[in-house]
Amino acid sequence: MIIRKRLQRTAALAAVVAVSIGLAACGSDDDSGSDDPATSEATDAAAPDASDAPADAPADGEAISVGFVAVGPEGAWRAANEANMQETFSAENGFDLKYAPATNLDQKSQIDAFTSFVDEGVDVILLSATEGAGWEDSLARAQEAEIPVVLIDRGIEPDDASLYVTRIAPDNVEVSKGVAEWAVSALPDGGNYFVLEGPAGVGVVNERNDGWDSVMDSQSQFVKVGAQTANWSAEEGKSVMETVLKANDNDIQLVFAQNDEMGLGAALAVEEAGLVPGKDVLIATIDGTMAAMEALAEGRLSFVAEYNPLFGDTAVDVVMKTLAGESVESYIIVPSGTFDSPEAAQEALPTRQY
Ligand code: AHR
Repeated sequence: MIIRKRLQRTAALAAVVAVSIGLAACGSDDDSGSDDPATSEATDAAAPDASDAPADAPADGEAISVGFVAVGPEGAWRAANEANMQETFSAENGFDLKYAPATNLDQKSQIDAFTSFVDEGVDVILLSATEGAGWEDSLARAQEAEIPVVLIDRGIEPDDASLYVTRIAPDNVEVSKGVAEWAVSALPDGGNYFVLEGPAGVGVVNERNDGWDSVMDSQSQFVKVGAQTANWSAEEGKSVMETVLKANDNDIQLVFAQNDEMGLGAALAVEEAGLVPGKDVLIATIDGTMAAMEALAEGRLSFVAEYNPLFGDTAVDVVMKTLAGESVESYIIVPSGTFDSPEAAQEALPTRQY
């Protein structure tokens, strides 16, 4: 996506901010088990020093304005991701971040915020879409206004990469494929399983189903009893699992919860049904939040796939490169680990950041 008119001004700004962030300092110091993919690149390529900044670089310290069309309250993972974005796109780092969380996850409120950012003429827009579909017009308007858009975590559907600069997120298909591969090794004789899904219409949910099914569909020793959304919530995860256990006389050996909260809810339902989570029913989740890691350390969860939310530095690097007229990959994958035992969780917990 070519940025013409804005390049002069924002490239100068980007140079100034690059210096103020001190991109020369390699890497962010978070040690949540995954290093930020962009840091090394950034240190090599984009770290101009003060003398690189064009002579007419704005002396008045004008910040780069960033409109963040965010999801808002939606659980521990989301809170960590959006806090990390706000911390990284800080005034100290040369940014003027305008944080616009959705109202009750409502896409219309996001589209309204997006539209006002375009009208306002911000330098760049960050978008975490509550729903995958319905963004073509908004993205086309931003393109017309030559405002680059960076997708944070969530993709759009259909996925048209010509409408945005890049998507930054862990690889949902690979992450959930890893969960399924663990399930096949943990239950060699197979069993009955149930899937707790995120909200319908969210691209991430479909990607996680694709990864999981790509392994499980060929495992005849496993029987899919069903799948149902529990909207990323522990309460709904619990109530859905209560119904499923009753309907199947507790004959469920495996639960794939597409996020931690739903898995933790399922563990409560399993306990209330008189079963032992981690023994009678194995529960695997995605995110890697503190509460899930603690439950894994206690053996109540059996597998936790990290979905690293701390990629603010990568987003800053992408914004800097884009405003400086450089191109970036259309999908930047954030590395994420896995935890398959209480010991692994106990080892990770002391330094866990979210
Ligand atoms: O889009 C990522 C998902 O959104 C996380 O896995 C879930 O916890 C969050 O709400």
